[in-house]
Amino acid sequence: MKSQIKTIAIFTSGGDSPGMNAAIRAVVRTALHHNIKVMGIMHGYDGMIKGDFIPLDASSVGGIIHRGGTILKTARSQGFMTAEGRSEAAAQLKKHKIDAVVAIGGDGTFKGALVFSSECKIPFVGLPGTIDNYLAGTDFTIGFDTAVNTVIEAVDKIRDTAESHDRLFFVEVMGRDAGLIALNSGIGVGAEEILIPETKTYIDDLIKQLQKGWKRKKASHIIIVAEGDDAGGAYAIAEKVKAKFNKIDTRIAVLGHLQRGGNPTANDRLLSTRLGYEAVEALLKGKKNVMLGIVNNKVVLTPFKNAVKFHAQPDKALLKMLKILSE
Ligand code: F6P
Repeated sequence: MKSQIKTIAIFTSGGDSPGMNAAIRAVVRTALHHNIKVMGIMHGYDGMIKGDFIPLDASSVGGIIHRGGTILKTARSQGFMTAEGRSEAAAQLKKHKIDAVVAIGGDGTFKGALVFSSECKIPFVGLPGTIDNYLAGTDFTIGFDTAVNTVIEAVDKIRDTAESHDRLFFVEVMGRDAGLIALNSGIGVGAEEILIPETKTYIDDLIKQLQKGWKRKKASHIIIVAEGDDAGGAYAIAEKVKAKFNKIDTRIAVLGHLQRGGNPTANDRLLSTRLGYEAVEALLKGKKNVMLGIVNNKVVLTPFKNAVKFHAQPDKALLKMLKILSE
């Protein structure tokens, strides 16, 4: 049966992530290949409510595959959380004759799409766009690999100065309530310890670990702290440690939003491009309310409700490995 889809809308929502532009490009070019028109919605759900739609053609997505951020801009919409806001958004989609929507974002984006699906019958498919990597249904989210590489580059530099001064550094990384950026980057930099929200942090254990290194005259110690750790952020944890063990000169670095920017890595460009292409193919096959991801190198479709409910968990075996390797 021939698809009834004549116009697709695409938007990015929530925190931006490197690779979103590559995904937009892939969606637009694949849709055009199928003679489907594409409208970009600016500023996420806020732009949907306000009717901030722009036509996208092949050249409007030229020269963006390598750029971080999102040409469609993004927002964390308060308006879409209200029934009035969603009703206005539905009216705008109708007004612009949108037959299907591709949403690129994280948890909040798909939770919004889920609520919307009971009120508006236009099919949505989602692409996992967040540096945090917590969504179920994909091995990696768009932007995670770039963020991890950014952290590694920054901490390698911190290690140089830490070594020169025999210092202990607490480096706080993003991830909201997930520790996956911390875990992967911490392993990559050979951190002495990684503190993540998925495992309980015991300050006394951390001090024992530091004392061991101190005894064997380790020149530097790097502790990677996930921003959502149960014992607090880097400042709070450093204070708790200093109160009991003040032998090492201590410094704190909060990497912050630099983790969200930069040119996407090769892995993120490939992931975004594959998923963008597959999103249009999925809509043409009549799929809706699903997030596309890649698991074991295969494209997988996961209902929004599962993608947001079953958060990806860090592999605890990796933490055990880190303990052994950092001794
Ligand atoms: O979800 C991505 C993320 O960068 C989180 O890691 C972080 O907690 C949050 O967004 C920061 O959000 P904002 O840019 O709105 O301050």
